[in-house]
Amino acid sequence: MISPAPLRHREIFPVVGLDLERAGLVSTEVQRVLRRLGVEPEAVRRAGIVCFEGEMNMVLYTPGGRIILLVYDDRVELIFSDRGAGIPDVELARQPGYSTAPDWARELGFGSGMGIPNMEANSDHLEIRSRLGEGTVIRAVILRRKDETRSGSTHS
Ligand SMILES: Nc1ncnc2c1ncn2[C@@H]1O[C@H](COP(=O)(O)OP(=O)(O)OP(=O)(O)O)[C@@H](O)[C@H]1O
Ligand SMILES: [Mg+2]
Repeated sequence: MISPAPLRHREIFPVVGLDLERAGLVSTEVQRVLRRLGVEPEAVRRAGIVCFEGEMNMVLYTPGGRIILLVYDDRVELIFSDRGAGIPDVELARQPGYSTAPDWARELGFGSGMGIPNMEANSDHLEIRSRLGEGTVIRAVILRRKDETRSGSTHS
């Protein structure tokens, strides 16, 4: 029988919607925590990108929610849950270039429709569950590759 990898760390970060001054703080903190725990640099980098995109979407499109960080020996998981309007068509939202960002968000440089594709590209597994009028839950799994050297280099 395969025994599941033990949970090493669990932390919950609240995210306040439309609070652009604090947008991005959770992903910075998550990366700091992961480095402190000795998570491999490549997994830290990928988790940082996934977290930033999920956090920004929560800030831009919802009144808020929370991000749960789970660190296991073999993976990092990020669970984003919000109390927003939900995503009407999740398959469409996964397509590169799809965006409903309002003008004010576009003026700040958001709205390329690359956030969810970027989350997908930087995680090993991405689940999106959304209910209209209730909110959205996104679970991202980032596998840790222990064979990576401490310097983070995979090149010879
Ligand atoms: N948590 C969420 N709640 C409701 N809608 C969301 C949420 N996250 C994403 N969406 C919807 O999915 C669309 C695509 O999201 P995605 O992050 O890929 O692109 P974007 O935020 O529009 O642009 P970018 O991330 O490139 O700045 C958004 O425009 C929005 O309509
Ligand atoms: Mg986005």
